[in-house]
Amino acid sequence: MKINNYNDYEEAYRFSVQDPEGFWAGIASEFSWKKKWEKVLEWDFKKPDVKWFIKGKLNITENCIDRHLPLKAKDLAFIWEPNEPLGEARHITYLELSQEVNRLANVLKDLGVKKGDRVCIYLPMLPETIYAMLACARIGAIHSVIFGGFSAQSIKDRITDSQCKVVLTSDGAYRGAKQIPMKATVDEALLECPSVSHVLVLSRTKQHVNRVKGRDLVWEEECEKRSVVCAPELMDSEDPLFILYTSGSTGKPKGVVHTCGGYMVYTAYTFQNVFQYKAGELFWCTADVGWITGHSYIAYGPLLAGASTLIFEGVPSYPDQGRFWQVIDKHRVNIFYTAPTAIRALEAAGLEFVTPYKLDSLRLLGSVGEPINEEAWHWYHTNIGKGNCPIVDTWWQTETGGIAISPLAGITPLKPGFASLPLPGIQLMIVNEKGKEIKGNGVEGNLCIKFPWPSIIRTTYGDHERCRTAYFATYPNLYFTGDGCKRDEDGYYRITGRVDDVLNVSGHRIGTAEVESAIDLHDEVAESAVVGYPHDIKGQGIYAFCIVGKTQKPKEEIIKDIYENVTRLLGSFAKPDKVQLVKGLPKTRSGKIMRRILRKIAEGELSNLGDTSTLIDPSVVEDIIRDRIV
Ligand code: PRX
Repeated sequence: MKINNYNDYEEAYRFSVQDPEGFWAGIASEFSWKKKWEKVLEWDFKKPDVKWFIKGKLNITENCIDRHLPLKAKDLAFIWEPNEPLGEARHITYLELSQEVNRLANVLKDLGVKKGDRVCIYLPMLPETIYAMLACARIGAIHSVIFGGFSAQSIKDRITDSQCKVVLTSDGAYRGAKQIPMKATVDEALLECPSVSHVLVLSRTKQHVNRVKGRDLVWEEECEKRSVVCAPELMDSEDPLFILYTSGSTGKPKGVVHTCGGYMVYTAYTFQNVFQYKAGELFWCTADVGWITGHSYIAYGPLLAGASTLIFEGVPSYPDQGRFWQVIDKHRVNIFYTAPTAIRALEAAGLEFVTPYKLDSLRLLGSVGEPINEEAWHWYHTNIGKGNCPIVDTWWQTETGGIAISPLAGITPLKPGFASLPLPGIQLMIVNEKGKEIKGNGVEGNLCIKFPWPSIIRTTYGDHERCRTAYFATYPNLYFTGDGCKRDEDGYYRITGRVDDVLNVSGHRIGTAEVESAIDLHDEVAESAVVGYPHDIKGQGIYAFCIVGKTQKPKEEIIKDIYENVTRLLGSFAKPDKVQLVKGLPKTRSGKIMRRILRKIAEGELSNLGDTSTLIDPSVVEDIIRDRIV
């Protein structure tokens, strides 16, 4: 499975294109299967219908845990670093992981959770969060992790969409100087979620929580009573492993479904090769487990490789902006994988937060979630990597399941700002607006993938047609990523950002339609349009233009309410940076909002608004420009 040098990479890539089935079968056979697959691949992007390792039987937790026990029972699976720097870190071995996962799996079973049932996980960054995911996988339940920053309303929407039976949460969470009520938020969400029969509550902050009789249970008490042995459920390769909701161009989040066999093979393969993980190293991915990066490179990928991973509960700015660097020195982290937004924020804080630390344990740095600007790349390389550590700029998506374009650490020659080359198995195609392939180098267009890889999205939960229209209908027979990209003279890929109505704010993917729906619920707002604009730290900021009719209410009050509404309905990470109240929006005669014009205004590119002659009322543009927020 391991690629050791550039020749290996070229060879693996060639093989993966010439004989994809032979290539992936070879990699899959390194895992433990209860029954070998009968056929490697069947696919049809029109439907879409993709199946890998057909009729193979396995349980991913056996590969994440049990397979390592004979030789690695005492090796560290996790080091957990708490929010408070003076708090005690926890060290968890593979044996302990096995016991804790099995206990929790037995609790879930006794609560009536069966194969195929959905379980919602709403927890802070704790080892128990990973136990929760693996306990579900152990008994064949489908986990749906919801990022701890989401509001009660967002939790309700997600639980309802997938009809979760059980919710796993904690009393509260520590995030920097803040203490966040988790259980109270879940309680509010569950007022309208009849599918949920039980809530298992872990104690973290010891704050008071309400207890609903017959529904709520104490996590620790339940686990204590259960056995450390739990037989793994026999799963088909194509049985769903998890659902993860992500934003698209429409208001409703999509439940991206990944399945057991293909996701296992691909996350393990990419973890090993992109990071070139060596036994004994400590890997730290700073993402939250509520996003795909946490699923694939905190939980599954590293565990499949028998690696040791750091889980961090806190935030990069607490107690000060040197916390990441302090943690790296404290635990002697070897591989550090974070988002450009964090790098830019820590760069802005100043070098005085970096220089107290040695950072000499680092071998490799990674970047994920958004394009990394060259300036930030160089700062990261020089000041954190001390010029010695390669940076892997990894491009991928919730829908790809694992890293799809990236340098391989120490193997692929680097170019700042470039995710570089596709991984074996990833067959890229750049197309123009009409879907025609743009061949050759030194070109730019929309990024598609023309052949399936093992962890490609299988469906959007409960709505297969949505999966087809969102990813497979724009260009026939291609998976469309929603991203634009350039391929330079050397064939290197640089991702330029989304070409649809999806924003990337501090690495969080946010649909403009979701924010608009939240804003439009305000009584005084008739209609709104949300666009992104370049933001020094966040990558993109959110600019909301809101039509407000005649009203007695002061402007400031309406704007304050809009901020509060978005926070309450979606979560504070989706709060607009700028809200402008307007009399009208630039619309075409057919009633379509011309977002292109609003984007230019938000970006401050006023001299180049393009053609405005098709607008019903061009004067609205002048009004908007006059009152523009800078
Ligand atoms: O626009 C791309 C951007 O993040 C989107 C995927 O977001 P999400 O599903 O939340 O997954 C994020 C973590 C994998 C992509 O469509 N993106 C992700 N990584 C990069 C990136 N843009 C540029 N460079 C990257 N390395």
